[in-house]
Amino acid sequence: MKPIKAGLLGIGTVGAGTFNVLQRNQDDIRRRAGRGIEIAMVAARNVERAARIVGGQCRVVADPFKVVDDPEIDIVVELIGGYELPYELVMRAIANGKHVVTANKALLALHGNEIFAAAQEKGVMVAFEAAVAGGVPIIKALREGLTANRIESVAGIINGTTNFILSEMREKGLDFATVLKQAQELGYAEADPTFDIEGVDAAHKLTIMSAIAFGIPVQFDKAYVEGISKLQAVDIRYAEQLGYRIKLLGIARRATVDGVEGIELRVHPTLIPAARLIANVEGAMNAVLVQADAVGSTLYYGKGAGAEPTASAVIADLVDVTRLATVDPYCRVPHLAFQPGEMVDLPI
Ligand code: HSE
Repeated sequence: MKPIKAGLLGIGTVGAGTFNVLQRNQDDIRRRAGRGIEIAMVAARNVERAARIVGGQCRVVADPFKVVDDPEIDIVVELIGGYELPYELVMRAIANGKHVVTANKALLALHGNEIFAAAQEKGVMVAFEAAVAGGVPIIKALREGLTANRIESVAGIINGTTNFILSEMREKGLDFATVLKQAQELGYAEADPTFDIEGVDAAHKLTIMSAIAFGIPVQFDKAYVEGISKLQAVDIRYAEQLGYRIKLLGIARRATVDGVEGIELRVHPTLIPAARLIANVEGAMNAVLVQADAVGSTLYYGKGAGAEPTASAVIADLVDVTRLATVDPYCRVPHLAFQPGEMVDLPI
């Protein structure tokens, strides 16, 4: 069978990682997907740099609309980041009948409802494992592995940059600005690192997880968001003396206020007893704890940021989409089954 053709929008840290891992593991990936996955086209602002990365193995263009409008492309992989251009590109790709794989949590947290509705109407898939917790397959766990359960809560460390900063400040006594610079150099931080340090990135990811876990629409504006920028070295030291670690947690859980059941979404620095597993998640690692009725507690841990961990999730989605698109050309597979229901605003 002919390979399925994917077009990459953006070939920065994650795009380059995706290209490299796909090349390196192509035999295994072909076997698992049932056919080859070919990156047939790449759109990049810096065409020369992109051409060096792909080494003449596919077309490189400057205009991303050329990829989403190309009739040969089956899957559009959006790795640009930001909201406006990716929104236009993803909606156009869907309108053109293409499947979409994206790592863009900001895009989905803000426009996910429209994007999923458009995809459902068109019968195409939107896959987004890489948008949450990098290489940790938490989306597939929530959507597939735990699908029999009533989920009570999803909580964890879902921003690698802030966890790296808190760890380095505690372990090495380094100051905030120095460690943030290191996180940027290591490719963990967002293009705008205020999204990391003010908790916005974690809130984007929490919003996406909560939609799957609780069957609610994506509602970023309902989340309480507080980052780590006001924390000082002295806070970390005092917490340690009292037997705690400070972690930036994202928490989504069922809560009842005045007899009305709803979902509480919050991101903020949290004191965690030092003996707890999650308190010992250090560096750019992520960990998500899910409490559910049938299975009990499950914990998902791994690299939450960086080129190849995130590429691992992007390629997992490419394989998924390839399998489903091959088995069922019309892709009548619900990618995200929202339940009808009301959301309530809960006081924090
Ligand atoms: N800036 C993000 C983080 C990248 O630090 O977790 C992965 O989503």
